[in-house]
Amino acid sequence: MSYLFPTYARWEVEPVSAEGTYLTDINGITYLDYTSGIGVCNLGHQPKVIKEAVSKQLDHFWHVSNLFTIGQQEKAAQLLATAAGLEAVFFANSGAEANEAAIKLARKATGKTKIITFEKSFHGRTFATMAATGQDKIKLGYGPMLEKFVYVPFNNIDALKNEMDTDVAAIMLEVIQGEGGIHVGEQAFLQEVEELCKEYGSLLIIDEIQTGIGRTAKPFAFQHFDLTPDIVTVAKGLGSGLPIGAVIGKESLKVHFGPGSHGSTFGGNPVSISAAIATMEIIFNEIFLQEVLIKGEYLVSQLTKKLQNHESVKDIRGLGLMIGIEFDQPVQGLLQELRNEGFLALSAGENVLRLLPPLTTSISEIDKCVEIMKHTIEKTSKAAV
Ligand SMILES: Cc1ncc(COP(=O)(O)O)c(C=O)c1O
Repeated sequence: MSYLFPTYARWEVEPVSAEGTYLTDINGITYLDYTSGIGVCNLGHQPKVIKEAVSKQLDHFWHVSNLFTIGQQEKAAQLLATAAGLEAVFFANSGAEANEAAIKLARKATGKTKIITFEKSFHGRTFATMAATGQDKIKLGYGPMLEKFVYVPFNNIDALKNEMDTDVAAIMLEVIQGEGGIHVGEQAFLQEVEELCKEYGSLLIIDEIQTGIGRTAKPFAFQHFDLTPDIVTVAKGLGSGLPIGAVIGKESLKVHFGPGSHGSTFGGNPVSISAAIATMEIIFNEIFLQEVLIKGEYLVSQLTKKLQNHESVKDIRGLGLMIGIEFDQPVQGLLQELRNEGFLALSAGENVLRLLPPLTTSISEIDKCVEIMKHTIEKTSKAAV
């Protein structure tokens, strides 16, 4: 019997070690891991540089409260804010906490209450972030929800315009919806969203929790779309596996998050911060990001070449190394078959298989991934006949 709440439908893979793009389980089976701990281990498992940075910090101190001046937090904040073109950072411990803080900040800064988000979005599982999430299944049984959240179809500007009024504190979105199925925002739509925010005095919050920290071959995915958000939230990849999240905002918002207005005991913990600094120093680098772009394009081109003619494959899409393959049926069975073949991948919604490889994956690992996928898809469809 398990003493854990069964909140996760767990796989029968019990890791005992992991390095780079590979993970070995208790039965001695080694898997090619294209999940990266759901977009967290962007530098692969156990990257040496992060390990060294963390152990160095452990030798100094692990935790002090945020009442202290913490030089490393200042450094991490500067790296994050500069990369995003913004000026103010609040450190939290997770994505949901970062979004929770962003929602609080938007209401406080604007004095308005309504938050518009999008159908199929995912923003977290706390009460505010669950309310922000545009998927009913996430909210089932937890009502009543926090008020004043409304949802409109993604990439539909007319539907959004219909919901705009002078009480809109913020529009909150993922430029690529991750959990909802790897839906990429359209450039014209995203730019009109920003214009609407300006017109109505609302803030634009971009949730980069899954898309940020180099995942799409830019520090932040919004940078593909020529946007200037008021607030950006990050987590997942920021700490390379150590828990950390952050709200990044404009200078003008600082006054609304003054002493006592928000806080977190563990937010910006020095150990996580040391991992975040080392992570950003590697990833926020043009040459590194250029390689992510090349590898992402190669992966999509190989998947397209080898899989697109397969009748069950409906679409292959994504940006950088955030890729979705849409099938004409649920992918859970296929994911199990892929695990049987030594390959770990994710779903995004029912019918989309999601690949989030470490950004450090190699071309030969990409070839291996595509070969396993092709072979497994062919095998499972033959078995279904
Ligand atoms: C876009 C997005 N926002 C928020 C979250 C919530 O992050 P966390 O699980 O760290 O609370 C996630 C997690 O998958 C996410 O993908």
